[in-house]
Amino acid sequence: MMAEKGGHKHFMHKEIHEQPRAVADTLRGRMLLSEGDVHFEGWNLSADKVRALTKVTILACGTSWHSGIVGKAMIESLARLPVEVELASEFRYRDPIVEPTHLAIAISQSGETADTLAAFKEAKARGATALALCNVIGSAMTREADITILTNAGPEIGVASTKAFTTQLVGLYLLAVKLGRMRGTLTVKAAQEHLTALTEVPKMIEDVLKCEPSVKRVAREFMGAQDFLFLGRGPMHPVALEGALKLKEISYIHAEGYAGGEMKHGPIALIDEKMPVVIIAPKQPHVAYEKIIGNIEEVRARGGKVIAIIDEDDTHVATLADHIIRIPAASALLAPVVATIPMQLLSYHVADLRGNDVDQPRNLAKSVTVE
Ligand code: AGP
Repeated sequence: MMAEKGGHKHFMHKEIHEQPRAVADTLRGRMLLSEGDVHFEGWNLSADKVRALTKVTILACGTSWHSGIVGKAMIESLARLPVEVELASEFRYRDPIVEPTHLAIAISQSGETADTLAAFKEAKARGATALALCNVIGSAMTREADITILTNAGPEIGVASTKAFTTQLVGLYLLAVKLGRMRGTLTVKAAQEHLTALTEVPKMIEDVLKCEPSVKRVAREFMGAQDFLFLGRGPMHPVALEGALKLKEISYIHAEGYAGGEMKHGPIALIDEKMPVVIIAPKQPHVAYEKIIGNIEEVRARGGKVIAIIDEDDTHVATLADHIIRIPAASALLAPVVATIPMQLLSYHVADLRGNDVDQPRNLAKSVTVE
């Protein structure tokens, strides 16, 4: 069994450490650097059709829904197309507006999640073009789709999704570049810059994994906490949601993920000296960074314990936080990939220290095939 786990104690730990390889496999063969373009096998959308698109609707659940929120930032910024990110379990119960000029994207590790599949079918039946971003070839969603983009993460066994999430993020980034080129919102040069940045991601993940000893120290200190708060702004908001979800799933500690600006509208009331607050504060995007420093001060003023995720060269936040975890600096759209790794490690080590069944947490199934 240990051999199956490649010497790791749990599949989740193995899968966290597989991410440099998984992301490289998602990128492989797709980046046409000299042309500043992206190649997806089986892509059958004409330039006219892509230019005529008026909206993208992303349908997903759980962790895949979080990657959809990052995907919204990517597609809106690079392809200038409005994107809505829908909880698949809600979508079809509210008579959604779907037009033939819409692109529906189902994001799913398994390709079998009942709610996502049903929402995807509904969007397709109402005339949208159906694109599946999926990790399992031949799954129900890939069979339903007009176009499939495989994430190539390899089998994910741990119930808590890790490498599926980061490979979805780079898949969405590639898709945003492709749509941007086809719609003429990205020049060849700009696309080349984005693709070059993507080539660096596997190495960045290797580097960020080196933060594991500092994450483990934080996990030891807070393994007995009853609640955690995760804060992030802009593209770091979904990373905060993902950090909270991971912790809940496997450590059974109550955790909330919030957009930093929302803290004063409620969750600030929770903060006391027992409350660890994970604040995701890479320097990009710049505006989010400036604002999140305000959140750090608000937490500290109420005695909360700040665990800050910061760039390796950050000297400012380092002086304000109780604990820091350093990550390699990345662009605004890639920072979510890098910043997610310490979230995964934190939940893993807290759950392991608490003696929980990390790979098969109570009450959860890997793939939710019932509504
Ligand atoms: C992730 O850690 C969860 N176990 C869960 O939220 C999962 O992401 C969700 O059920 C969606 O699964 P899918 O990606 O296979 O559709």
